[in-house]
Amino acid sequence: MHPGRRHLVATLALSPLVCMAAPHPGARPRTPAGFTATTTAEEATAGLDLRGRTVLVTGCNSGIGLETLRVLALRGAHVIGTARSPDKGRAACAGVRGRATPVVLDLADFASVRACASQVRAIAPRLDALVCNAGIVLDDWERVGGLEKQFVVNHLGHHLLVEELLAPVIAARGRVVVLGSGDHRNAPPGGIQFGRLSGEGWHARGYAHSKLANGLFSLELARRLRGSGATSNCVTPGHTRTAILRHVGNGYREDARTPAQGAATPCYAAVHPAMAGVSGAYLRDFEPAEQSPLQQDPAMAARLWQVSRGLVAAR
Ligand SMILES: NC(=O)c1ccc[n+]([C@@H]2O[C@H](COP(=O)([O-])OP(=O)(O)OC[C@H]3O[C@@H](n4cnc5c(N)ncnc54)[C@H](OP(=O)(O)O)[C@@H]3O)[C@@H](O)[C@H]2O)c1
Repeated sequence: MHPGRRHLVATLALSPLVCMAAPHPGARPRTPAGFTATTTAEEATAGLDLRGRTVLVTGCNSGIGLETLRVLALRGAHVIGTARSPDKGRAACAGVRGRATPVVLDLADFASVRACASQVRAIAPRLDALVCNAGIVLDDWERVGGLEKQFVVNHLGHHLLVEELLAPVIAARGRVVVLGSGDHRNAPPGGIQFGRLSGEGWHARGYAHSKLANGLFSLELARRLRGSGATSNCVTPGHTRTAILRHVGNGYREDARTPAQGAATPCYAAVHPAMAGVSGAYLRDFEPAEQSPLQQDPAMAARLWQVSRGLVAAR
């Protein structure tokens, strides 16, 4: 395993905290009593009736995304689940109780992102929640169209998807939930590498760089959504045993969470009444969590939005 990856595996979960998140004034969620790090997604959504709501979950065939799909459908939502192939999406949606519709999405291919968004707009003119969950961790330096691949898949593909689906989200006064990570703190010094997005010189920190991009994207989206009734929050599931480390070896720690636990805060942010109106927050275990100053930098967030918009438009 690449030495940078060993470091990553050790820090996929939150390491020591740096400084508090700064959600919008008055935006702090009132976490229901009894919700803790071991609370599962079923427990976090117990008693909720989501009939009539439509939720999109990317990466619905594995890990946290599969559990999010299962639990939100169980609670009555119509869940549109994306997967990279029709077979994976169909199998995931067929395996859950409730209403689930598969749609193909490859975040590394912007034509696929646009096609997915177009299908989703046709299925759901109103989207109550959009959970940007899909993600990869790579050991090797891989590029897509000259750009570091984790930045493309984890961030740019989701940026394009969300921009393409803003109308249905705003129509429902919906919630965008972006899966971030405590590992954002291991991003390269200076944060987003605007001058060399190929990964040259920093690809060993590519996952952390992409997760910082997720956090900054969510922050800037929250700013742009102000006054619309729609919200944007970033959540970290905590160190969770899924398939995400398959390219870097089995590096899960003894204390890794189950997907049922990892999906709890994403589901909470997407549908729980306690999160109504909350925007611009970074959450772990249902609470605003500590994050690096870089992830709270509004100028970097605004610049990332502009640069990302240019990159997706050009492809
Ligand atoms: N597990 C953790 O400890 C942890 C900690 C912090 C944050 N997170 C975040 O949680 C999210 C979910 O991860 P997970 O742990 O549940 O991982 P996972 O089990 O590996 O699931 C990842 C999902 O993303 C999909 N995906 C991968 N590449 C894609 C692409 N190019 N286009 C579209 N979808 C793609 C995968 O599809 P395939 O099955 O076809 O590859 C899969 O459905 C990620 O954003 C991750 O960064 C996880």
